[in-house]
Amino acid sequence: MATGKFITFEGVDGAGKSTHIAAFADAVRELGKTVISTREPGGTALGEQLRNLLLHQAMHLETEALLMFAARREHLAQVIVPALARGDWVISDRFTDATFAYQGGGRGLSLDKLSQLEQWVHGDLQPDLTLLFDVPLEVARERLKNSRDLDKFEQEQEDFFVRVRQVYLQRAAQFPHRIRVIDSTRPIADISREIQQIAVDVCGV
Ligand code: TYD
Repeated sequence: MATGKFITFEGVDGAGKSTHIAAFADAVRELGKTVISTREPGGTALGEQLRNLLLHQAMHLETEALLMFAARREHLAQVIVPALARGDWVISDRFTDATFAYQGGGRGLSLDKLSQLEQWVHGDLQPDLTLLFDVPLEVARERLKNSRDLDKFEQEQEDFFVRVRQVYLQRAAQFPHRIRVIDSTRPIADISREIQQIAVDVCGV
Protein backbone atom coordinates (compact mmCIF):
# COMPACT_ATOMS: atom_id res chain seq x y z
CA MET A 1 0.00 0.00 0.00
CA ALA A 2 1.25 3.51 -0.80
CA THR A 3 2.52 5.29 2.29
CA GLY A 4 3.75 8.54 0.75
CA LYS A 5 3.12 11.84 2.46
CA PHE A 6 2.68 15.32 1.08
CA ILE A 7 4.42 18.02 3.10
CA THR A 8 4.47 21.72 2.28
CA PHE A 9 6.55 24.64 3.52
CA GLU A 10 5.03 28.12 3.71
CA GLY A 11 5.68 31.61 5.02
CA VAL A 12 6.06 35.23 3.98
CA ASP A 13 9.12 36.09 1.90
CA GLY A 14 12.03 36.44 4.30
CA ALA A 15 10.57 34.11 6.94
CA GLY A 16 13.49 31.72 6.44
CA LYS A 17 11.78 28.57 5.18
CA SER A 18 14.28 27.92 2.36
CA THR A 19 17.08 27.28 4.84
CA HIS A 20 15.18 24.38 6.35
CA ILE A 21 13.57 22.63 3.40
CA ALA A 22 16.69 20.86 2.17
CA ALA A 23 17.60 19.76 5.72
CA PHE A 24 14.10 18.41 6.27
CA ALA A 25 14.20 16.51 2.95
CA ASP A 26 17.61 15.03 3.90
CA ALA A 27 16.31 13.99 7.31
CA VAL A 28 13.32 12.23 5.76
CA ARG A 29 15.62 10.53 3.20
CA GLU A 30 17.90 9.35 5.98
CA LEU A 31 14.86 7.81 7.64
CA GLY A 32 14.53 5.61 4.56
CA LYS A 33 11.93 7.39 2.45
CA THR A 34 12.13 8.33 -1.20
CA VAL A 35 11.71 12.09 -1.36
CA ILE A 36 10.65 14.31 -4.24
CA SER A 37 11.60 17.93 -3.50
CA THR A 38 9.68 20.43 -5.54
CA ARG A 39 8.31 23.95 -5.52
CA GLU A 40 5.46 26.24 -6.54
CA PRO A 41 4.86 28.00 -8.73
CA GLY A 42 6.91 25.53 -10.76
CA GLY A 43 7.89 21.91 -10.37
CA THR A 44 7.34 21.02 -14.05
CA ALA A 45 8.77 22.41 -17.28
CA LEU A 46 5.54 24.28 -17.98
CA GLY A 47 5.20 25.32 -14.35
CA GLU A 48 8.68 26.84 -14.34
CA GLN A 49 7.79 28.89 -17.43
CA LEU A 50 4.63 30.08 -15.67
CA ARG A 51 6.75 30.87 -12.59
CA ASN A 52 8.94 33.13 -14.64
CA LEU A 53 5.87 35.06 -15.84
CA LEU A 54 4.25 35.10 -12.41
CA LEU A 55 7.32 36.41 -10.62
CA HIS A 56 8.29 39.06 -13.15
CA GLN A 57 5.32 40.14 -15.23
CA ALA A 58 2.58 42.53 -14.05
CA MET A 59 -0.92 41.10 -14.64
CA HIS A 60 -4.52 41.31 -13.45
CA LEU A 61 -4.95 39.74 -10.03
CA GLU A 62 -7.38 37.10 -11.31
CA THR A 63 -4.99 36.18 -14.12
CA GLU A 64 -2.31 35.74 -11.47
CA ALA A 65 -4.51 33.44 -9.37
CA LEU A 66 -5.60 31.43 -12.41
CA LEU A 67 -2.01 30.96 -13.57
CA MET A 68 -0.99 29.84 -10.06
CA PHE A 69 -3.69 27.19 -10.21
CA ALA A 70 -2.84 26.29 -13.83
CA ALA A 71 0.77 25.67 -12.80
CA ARG A 72 -0.51 23.69 -9.82
CA ARG A 73 -2.79 21.53 -11.99
CA GLU A 74 0.20 20.54 -14.10
CA HIS A 75 2.33 19.98 -11.00
CA LEU A 76 -0.29 17.68 -9.49
CA ALA A 77 -0.74 15.74 -12.73
CA GLN A 78 2.92 15.34 -13.59
CA VAL A 79 4.63 15.14 -10.22
CA ILE A 80 2.63 15.14 -7.00
CA VAL A 81 -0.14 12.61 -7.63
CA PRO A 82 2.11 10.02 -9.37
CA ALA A 83 4.74 10.34 -6.61
CA LEU A 84 2.21 9.84 -3.82
CA ALA A 85 0.73 6.89 -5.72
CA ARG A 86 4.20 5.29 -5.83
CA GLY A 87 4.50 5.80 -2.08
CA ASP A 88 7.12 8.55 -2.36
CA TRP A 89 7.23 11.59 -0.13
CA VAL A 90 6.60 14.94 -1.75
CA ILE A 91 8.06 18.03 -0.11
CA SER A 92 6.91 21.22 -1.77
CA ASP A 93 8.20 24.73 -1.23
CA ARG A 94 4.72 26.36 -1.19
CA PHE A 95 1.30 25.12 -2.32
CA THR A 96 -2.30 26.39 -2.16
CA ASP A 97 -1.98 28.10 1.25
CA ALA A 98 0.35 30.54 -0.57
CA THR A 99 -2.40 31.39 -3.04
CA PHE A 100 -4.82 32.14 -0.20
CA ALA A 101 -2.19 34.23 1.55
CA TYR A 102 -0.73 36.14 -1.42
CA GLN A 103 -3.55 36.40 -3.97
CA GLY A 104 -6.28 36.38 -1.31
CA GLY A 105 -4.65 38.29 1.55
CA GLY A 106 -2.02 40.28 -0.31
CA ARG A 107 -3.94 41.16 -3.46
CA GLY A 108 -7.44 41.04 -1.96
CA LEU A 109 -8.98 38.42 -4.25
CA SER A 110 -12.10 36.81 -2.78
CA LEU A 111 -11.24 33.77 -0.68
CA ASP A 112 -14.47 32.15 -1.92
CA LYS A 113 -13.26 32.31 -5.50
CA LEU A 114 -9.98 30.77 -4.44
CA SER A 115 -11.82 27.99 -2.60
CA GLN A 116 -13.72 27.22 -5.80
CA LEU A 117 -10.48 26.98 -7.76
CA GLU A 118 -8.94 24.85 -5.03
CA GLN A 119 -11.92 22.50 -5.15
CA TRP A 120 -11.67 22.27 -8.93
CA VAL A 121 -7.92 21.70 -9.04
CA HIS A 122 -7.32 19.41 -6.10
CA GLY A 123 -10.66 18.46 -4.60
CA ASP A 124 -9.91 16.46 -1.50
CA LEU A 125 -6.15 16.28 -1.83
CA GLN A 126 -4.52 18.39 0.89
CA PRO A 127 -1.02 18.29 2.32
CA ASP A 128 -0.63 15.86 5.20
CA LEU A 129 1.41 18.49 7.00
CA THR A 130 2.26 22.14 6.39
CA LEU A 131 5.11 23.90 8.18
CA LEU A 132 4.38 27.61 8.34
CA PHE A 133 7.49 29.68 9.04
CA ASP A 134 6.37 32.74 10.89
CA VAL A 135 8.22 35.92 11.80
CA PRO A 136 7.09 39.48 12.55
CA LEU A 137 7.12 41.67 9.45
CA GLU A 138 10.10 43.75 10.53
CA VAL A 139 12.23 40.61 10.72
CA ALA A 140 11.13 39.38 7.28
CA ARG A 141 11.74 42.80 5.72
CA GLU A 142 15.18 43.05 7.30
CA ARG A 143 16.14 39.62 5.93
CA LEU A 144 14.94 40.55 2.44
CA LYS A 145 17.03 43.73 2.45
CA ASN A 146 20.14 41.65 1.89
CA SER A 147 18.80 39.90 -1.23
CA ARG A 148 19.56 41.04 -4.73
CA ASP A 149 17.08 40.82 -7.62
CA LEU A 150 13.85 41.01 -5.67
CA ASP A 151 10.92 39.49 -7.62
CA LYS A 152 7.49 41.08 -8.14
CA PHE A 153 6.14 39.85 -4.81
CA GLU A 154 9.24 40.67 -2.79
CA GLN A 155 8.99 44.24 -4.05
CA GLU A 156 5.53 44.71 -2.54
CA GLN A 157 4.97 47.20 0.28
CA GLU A 158 4.79 46.31 3.93
CA ASP A 159 0.97 46.32 4.19
CA PHE A 160 0.85 43.62 1.50
CA PHE A 161 2.95 41.33 3.71
CA VAL A 162 0.92 42.22 6.80
CA ARG A 163 -2.14 40.84 4.97
CA VAL A 164 -0.24 37.80 3.65
CA ARG A 165 0.88 36.92 7.15
CA GLN A 166 -2.62 37.47 8.56
CA VAL A 167 -4.17 35.00 6.13
CA TYR A 168 -1.43 32.44 6.78
CA LEU A 169 -2.08 32.67 10.53
CA GLN A 170 -5.86 32.54 10.01
CA ARG A 171 -5.43 29.35 8.02
CA ALA A 172 -3.20 27.90 10.73
CA ALA A 173 -5.98 28.59 13.24
CA GLN A 174 -8.58 27.12 10.86
CA PHE A 175 -6.60 23.92 10.12
CA PRO A 176 -4.67 23.26 13.33
CA HIS A 177 -4.23 19.55 12.60
CA ARG A 178 -2.55 20.21 9.27
CA ILE A 179 -0.67 23.49 9.70
CA ARG A 180 2.12 23.73 12.23
CA VAL A 181 3.47 27.21 12.94
CA ILE A 182 7.25 27.40 13.34
CA ASP A 183 8.46 30.45 15.26
CA SER A 184 11.20 31.46 12.88
CA THR A 185 12.63 34.25 15.05
CA ARG A 186 14.58 31.63 17.03
CA PRO A 187 18.20 30.70 16.27
CA ILE A 188 18.59 28.50 13.18
CA ALA A 189 20.04 25.64 15.26
CA ASP A 190 16.91 25.51 17.45
CA ILE A 191 14.62 25.50 14.43
CA SER A 192 16.74 22.78 12.80
CA ARG A 193 16.33 20.60 15.87
CA GLU A 194 12.57 21.10 15.79
CA ILE A 195 12.49 20.29 12.07
CA GLN A 196 14.52 17.09 12.59
CA GLN A 197 12.12 16.02 15.32
CA ILE A 198 9.12 16.69 13.08
CA ALA A 199 10.77 14.55 10.38
CA VAL A 200 11.12 11.69 12.87
CA ASP A 201 7.52 12.15 14.06
CA VAL A 202 5.97 12.22 10.60
CA CYS A 203 8.05 9.25 9.47
CA GLY A 204 6.56 7.33 12.37
CA VAL A 205 9.94 6.17 13.67
P1 TYD B 1 9.57 31.88 -3.13
O1 TYD B 1 8.89 30.61 -2.84
O2 TYD B 1 9.72 32.83 -2.01
O3 TYD B 1 10.91 31.52 -3.85
P2 TYD B 1 12.32 32.23 -3.67
O4 TYD B 1 12.76 31.75 -2.34
O5 TYD B 1 13.06 31.69 -4.83
O6 TYD B 1 12.06 33.72 -3.74
O7 TYD B 1 8.89 32.70 -4.36
C1 TYD B 1 7.69 32.44 -4.86
C2 TYD B 1 6.83 33.68 -4.79
O8 TYD B 1 5.57 33.37 -5.35
C3 TYD B 1 6.58 34.15 -3.36
O9 TYD B 1 6.77 35.55 -3.30
C4 TYD B 1 5.13 33.86 -3.13
C5 TYD B 1 4.54 33.80 -4.50
N1 TYD B 1 3.40 32.88 -4.62
C6 TYD B 1 2.13 33.39 -4.73
O10 TYD B 1 1.94 34.61 -4.72
N2 TYD B 1 1.06 32.53 -4.84
C7 TYD B 1 1.22 31.18 -4.86
O11 TYD B 1 0.24 30.43 -4.97
C8 TYD B 1 2.56 30.66 -4.75
C9 TYD B 1 2.77 29.17 -4.79
C10 TYD B 1 3.62 31.53 -4.63
